[in-house]
Amino acid sequence: MRILGIETSCDETGIAVYDDEQGLLSHELYSQVKLHADYGGVVPELASRDHVRKIVPLIQKALEDADTKGEELDGVAFTQGPGLVGALLVGSSVGRALAYAWNVPAVGVHHMEGHLLAPMLEEPAPPFPFIALLVSGGHSMLVKVEGIGEYEVLGESIDDAAGEAFDKTAKLLGLDYPGGPLLAKLAEKGEAGHYQFPRPMTDRPGLDFSFSGLKTFAANTIRDADDNEQTKANIAYAFQEAVVDTLIIKCRRALKQTNMKRLVIAGGVSANTMLREKMQQLMADMKGEVYYPSLGFCTDNGAMIAYAGMQRLKAGEKLDLSSPAKPRWPLDSLKKVGCG
Ligand code: KG4
Ligand code: ZN
Repeated sequence: MRILGIETSCDETGIAVYDDEQGLLSHELYSQVKLHADYGGVVPELASRDHVRKIVPLIQKALEDADTKGEELDGVAFTQGPGLVGALLVGSSVGRALAYAWNVPAVGVHHMEGHLLAPMLEEPAPPFPFIALLVSGGHSMLVKVEGIGEYEVLGESIDDAAGEAFDKTAKLLGLDYPGGPLLAKLAEKGEAGHYQFPRPMTDRPGLDFSFSGLKTFAANTIRDADDNEQTKANIAYAFQEAVVDTLIIKCRRALKQTNMKRLVIAGGVSANTMLREKMQQLMADMKGEVYYPSLGFCTDNGAMIAYAGMQRLKAGEKLDLSSPAKPRWPLDSLKKVGCG
């Protein structure tokens, strides 16, 4: 079975062709980062228009690279939500139209399920069950995963997502959008021990997160600090360490609470080197394993949508025609597919 995956929920047009026997055959990614950089964040209307311009040529290229004709596909998967409504509508309209023209089924994929299953594209893939830490620009969640579609959200951010906190703090440090990776780079030059940021919500029980206070703490720290590169790097280091430590504390708590030994981290922030290193250390201490996507598949991409769509199509899922795009869509409302 071979399908096309389309991702357009935010500022990346991601297209992929995935085959359940041969794996990933091709993938294309166009990032709109430069388009939005002047505005310091994603401008939804510009995002939608750019998806319109890029989507068809990228689909043509992905099909060519996979040596596949549209008519040879067995289905089309597109991100149906959550995300920016205009951006979602582009992928949804094109995906549904192509499926209709090629006379194959279309399936709408939940963006966060895509992230959650992205480590399944790697060798070895994580076996079920596991705890997933999903950390992206729009969401931070801890999820107990028993199988595909069997998700219990154990905790989530009550305000900013982890990636959003990185981006906002990066902006305060004078870095471009999206600042997460740039802040991480600056932090490499930073020294430990100069600043102590709080570890929000770790001194009380529960698995929810709150990151907006860290951004305020960063704003006050930057205001009171000297304006030189080393100071900025030290602040970046202390901020990053606080986010990472907070995530580690909550992951350890979730694993202990559920008696699980496997952890999956996914979403844009899972590309963070300090986070990966400290999670590896945590799982070594707990005598368990950690799994994450390869760097290119941490942030938004078409491959994860193709993979998740494949699992749902195989399970006989039909397209939900009630709405072409679902800007809000709770992860734990998805249908159960099982262990694939
Ligand atoms: O998953 P993603 O591509 O988009 C959403 O679904 O939101 O995540 C993007 C987020 C951005 O906030 C970006 O700054 C952050 O992931 N990010 C990072 C790193 N790479 C991407 N944050 C920290 N360190 C990184 N290396
Ligand atoms: Zn994402």
